[in-house]
Amino acid sequence: MDSIEIVGGGPLVGSVPISGAKNAALPIMTAALLADGEHVFRNVPNLRDVHTMTKLLGQLGVEATYEDGQVHVTASGTIEPTAPYDLVKQMRASVLVLGPLVARCGRAIVSMPGGCAIGARPIDQHLKGLEAMGADVELHHGYVEVNVPGGRLKGSDVTLDFPTHTGTENLMCAAVLAKGRTTLTNCAREPEVEELARVLNKMGARIEGAGTSVISIEGVDSLNPVDHAIIPDRIEAGTFMVAAAATRGDLLLEGIGFEPLEAVIAKLREAGSTIEREGDGIRVVGSEVIRPTDIITQPHPGFPTDMQAQLMMLMCLANGTSRITETVFENRFMHVSELNRMGADIQVHGRTATVHGVSRLEGAEVMATDLRASASLVLAGLVAEGTTQVRRVYHLDRGYEHIEEKLAPLGANITRVTGNA
Ligand code: EPU
Repeated sequence: MDSIEIVGGGPLVGSVPISGAKNAALPIMTAALLADGEHVFRNVPNLRDVHTMTKLLGQLGVEATYEDGQVHVTASGTIEPTAPYDLVKQMRASVLVLGPLVARCGRAIVSMPGGCAIGARPIDQHLKGLEAMGADVELHHGYVEVNVPGGRLKGSDVTLDFPTHTGTENLMCAAVLAKGRTTLTNCAREPEVEELARVLNKMGARIEGAGTSVISIEGVDSLNPVDHAIIPDRIEAGTFMVAAAATRGDLLLEGIGFEPLEAVIAKLREAGSTIEREGDGIRVVGSEVIRPTDIITQPHPGFPTDMQAQLMMLMCLANGTSRITETVFENRFMHVSELNRMGADIQVHGRTATVHGVSRLEGAEVMATDLRASASLVLAGLVAEGTTQVRRVYHLDRGYEHIEEKLAPLGANITRVTGNA
């Protein structure tokens, strides 16, 4: 298994292009199941999760290919509506096929995703919504089996207990081909949900309110294929922002605006960074003194859980104490013990981590079991004294497009070591 080796050093300086958003690309690829014909998706990041999704679509009998940032999906012909355990266990986002399959085929059999490194992550809200739209849901041998009597879902009113991100996406995809109007209340407001609605509307769907907590969907009889370029990845951009702040560098993030990152920008400014719009991007200049700041993760537009580990790493270098509370996932502090091995001073009590800033971190061999935790360790390696080896790069490759190739031109001393156990 590959690892990433980093020798900590000076400030990162330069421009970095932001890739397409993983969490927008994945649901959009599954939305292609809703219409016959060839869909073309551009600006798709070259990530392990994207390749897993093309494999899963292939398994469903759909033609799906990735080449040079483009995904082509042709969902004509017979679809086999079964998502097997093998693929769902590799990527929890596989559950995103559920809504489109039920809408298109009137039936789906999807392996239950089960727990993952960051928490139990049930899908009860996805299933509750489908049942409200008339589906029968049964659980057998680790699989959820959904059948729609008569083959077509019925529009319904669904109030989610929590604004689940992929749950909102699944139900939106289910409702676009339902008979009648569906109103989803307490929806996720993430930019990726809005992006999915944009794509579905381009395909001929009638969705209003995406990006707010109430989404209204008037079902249509059929949809058309689409050609669409994916929005930039706000979490990749946020990760590079922290790289600028932590190394006291000066980075221009190309091709992303302020809007999806307001909460992250506010916290980085509190910590001392100067952040401004520049051209079609964002310029981040780190400050010599990093100030402590308290963070509570929340669904969008609150501070994103996907940036919690990276900000915690920054707070390790602050001149004071910060409190970081994780409210979205119950177990998303795996980076803490690894950061502490690098000389950080973090204590966790329940859902809150208390981070006492230290004057320096030391390079070490580290490993994390989730994507964003791994990113925080790479960031720590950039500023630590000596060499850091981040193992199990598998997780990073799920969500960051060649992170080492993007960091090296900015001045980072970073290499990928292949085949290291
Ligand atoms: N939840 C339930 N029941 C449900 C659905 C969710 O209890 O039916 C709970 C979860 O257990 C969790 C909370 O609600 O505690 C939030 O989960 P949510 O459903 O919003 O998360 P998700 O849709 O599974 C997506 C992203 C995650 C991101 C979260 C939160 C994708 C493919 N994944 O997951 O991305 O952290 O929303 O914004 O969009 C990542 O990219 O590193 C990542 C983990």
